[in-house]
Amino acid sequence: MTLRTRALFLGTALTLSLGALTPAIAADAPKPWMDTKLSPDERAALLEKELTVDERIGLVHGPMAMPFMGQTKPEGAIGSAGYIPGVPRLGIPALQETDASLGIANPGNVRPGDVSTALPSSLSLAASWNPEVAYKGGAMIGQEAHAKGFNVLLAGGVNLARDPRNGRNFEYLGEDPLLSGTLGGESIRGIQDQHVVSTVKHFAVNDQETQRMTLDVKIGEAAARESDLLAFQFAIEKGKPGSVMCGYNKVNGAYDCENDFLLNKVLKGDWAYPGWVMSDWGAVHSMESALKGLDQESGEQIDTLLGKGGKVWFGEPLKAAVADKTVPAERLSDMTRRILRSMFAVGLFDHPPVQAPIDFAANGAVAKAAGTEGIVLLKNKADLLPLPLKGKTIAVIGGMANVGVLSGGGSSQVIAEGGNNVRIPLGGDGLMGSFRTMTFHPSSPLKAIRAKTDAKAVRFVDGTYPSEAAALAKSADVAIVFATQWMCEGGDAADLSLPSGQDALIAAVAAANPNTIVVLETGGPVHMPWLDKVAGVVEAWYPGSRGGEAIADVLFGDANPAGHLPITFPADDKQLVHRDIPGIGQPEFTPAEITYTEGADIGYRHYAKVGAKPLFPFGFGLSYTRFAYSDVKVTGGATLTVDFDVTNTGKRAGQDVPQVYLTDAAGTKTQRLIGWSKVTLAPGGKTHVTVTADPRLLGNFNEAAHAWKVAAGDYQVAVGASATDLTLKGKAALAASTRQP
Ligand code: BGC
Repeated sequence: MTLRTRALFLGTALTLSLGALTPAIAADAPKPWMDTKLSPDERAALLEKELTVDERIGLVHGPMAMPFMGQTKPEGAIGSAGYIPGVPRLGIPALQETDASLGIANPGNVRPGDVSTALPSSLSLAASWNPEVAYKGGAMIGQEAHAKGFNVLLAGGVNLARDPRNGRNFEYLGEDPLLSGTLGGESIRGIQDQHVVSTVKHFAVNDQETQRMTLDVKIGEAAARESDLLAFQFAIEKGKPGSVMCGYNKVNGAYDCENDFLLNKVLKGDWAYPGWVMSDWGAVHSMESALKGLDQESGEQIDTLLGKGGKVWFGEPLKAAVADKTVPAERLSDMTRRILRSMFAVGLFDHPPVQAPIDFAANGAVAKAAGTEGIVLLKNKADLLPLPLKGKTIAVIGGMANVGVLSGGGSSQVIAEGGNNVRIPLGGDGLMGSFRTMTFHPSSPLKAIRAKTDAKAVRFVDGTYPSEAAALAKSADVAIVFATQWMCEGGDAADLSLPSGQDALIAAVAAANPNTIVVLETGGPVHMPWLDKVAGVVEAWYPGSRGGEAIADVLFGDANPAGHLPITFPADDKQLVHRDIPGIGQPEFTPAEITYTEGADIGYRHYAKVGAKPLFPFGFGLSYTRFAYSDVKVTGGATLTVDFDVTNTGKRAGQDVPQVYLTDAAGTKTQRLIGWSKVTLAPGGKTHVTVTADPRLLGNFNEAAHAWKVAAGDYQVAVGASATDLTLKGKAALAASTRQP
């Protein structure tokens, strides 16, 4: 079926036979909910009243939108992660849902040959510390979604990086709630401005992949409110996502998707969230979840596989429960009203998707800009970088640099434009086995390097044999080793070493040539036992559709590196808060438990508390120019306002990320990022920065008072280039204040 006929089909299709029993309303019948002068709440209320019970039930559950477990792709579905049939008699469009953490996914090539633009990993986006880059990336994938017929994106991952080994850190925005929530919110705003609903996910405390479907996370309320939940709160306030996806794990004994505390009390109660909660795929364990705050069951076939007696809970069981009043009819209405409300608020009725060609050149430029700005220069001995454009012989080694750049695996996997990705099916047991396919986007760093310089001066070996690589490195002026760490949803890294003998490869190359630069394409932090031996380290993460070009721009100075770490790089495994990952190596679905003893002190906050020195601190990143900070002024009162100047003291234009940390709160030592700015400065240029703290970052959540409390007293702050390089200090007094949760 072509896209055009598919669109026609979608427009006329009847949903489930349930709807067929209810007569269609006449085409000219009044549809008062289509009055755009009414609020989304008013429109949703008007439309919801018209629905039959069966139609309501039809809107609150749906299948995978791809062949799965012997079922074919549902009629009417474009093909992707999920599908919720609409109600054509009332003009309610189907929800066509696709994964989109990093671009529009095409799982199992369900839309044969359909390709998309791949953004860099979200961790790379976080490394840009640039809300504008997040917004533009969101807008770009929102446009691609709209042009492909999707109206819901499963995007907006803001789980915090509590553990650098988490297999999905590449889909998230690092270890700090303010950075994650701010950039996550901007990306969601960018998506929804294209009239496509975005989720924020995975609510909540879904911070490890090992045994994610059985893990029980133990965490205190205040600690959760000040960390994981705060990241969601910021993202929801900024991005207003139409939907919240609840996660797989349990928090304090209750599954995320039937967690009354998380869904009813915090999200819908304290935060007055007006949208709908959709489940993760295979995260629903009971019909009673409807009473605990879940509004929609997604990927329902997977639920039938879970435990004994798994069912499509929000199908017949929910209908029966409404009939016998175990679930009040009003609750089912609330579930549907919430879905419709978000559909109206984001524009799904007024601006439905329209099939359109995709401008891959323009979108590739967005991906390249994001990939470039996320690259973090970690080491640059004697300013070896940037490389001169001519006159050097270069050995390029390993990392499949001849074919492309690595991407992360799982539901977020994008088939990038160019299409001829290298795909290595690694396989493995369990639900994610077929997703474990190591994929390289076709943007070759080797090709991009050759395009910058005298191509004949650049030679490549694949790095299989360290001795061969060392021989090539010895014959060249500069050696660039590409090292990769593939991470995938559904599992964590057992440790932080570079896999497949790459540490030995780098050591051999560095021993042969002191001018060795390592380019890392990793899901997150890795150990660097060879760090002292190499001249340069460039962290490129998973750099997206145009990653090869982005890396070459940084290596040769066409771009000045401007990324800063959104996550701490540990010096060794002993620095990890949790030495073992519970359940690792056990069969899928083995019950596991973890207690987050670090509470809200994640990442750099933990290092500051215990006085440990990481390999590279949170916030760290070098540039080809230098910056200096001066003239700090801290103003108190209701909140803290921090003013200071930034000067580019070097010889190149560049971007900096001066960061402001709270270091002492009314006599209690702490370390919390309270703000930052991304500034662009010409050589010698100076600019003024003002950061105003959100009071939630200054105070604590008081469980007894059920409120945020800021104590009266002196508050000390520090301005610096990373969490450990704090150059300016100041303080001011704050009055006591209270804020509702
Ligand atoms: C993932 C979600 C994803 C969903 C649909 C799940 O396995 O955890 O992030 O959106 O699948 O593909």
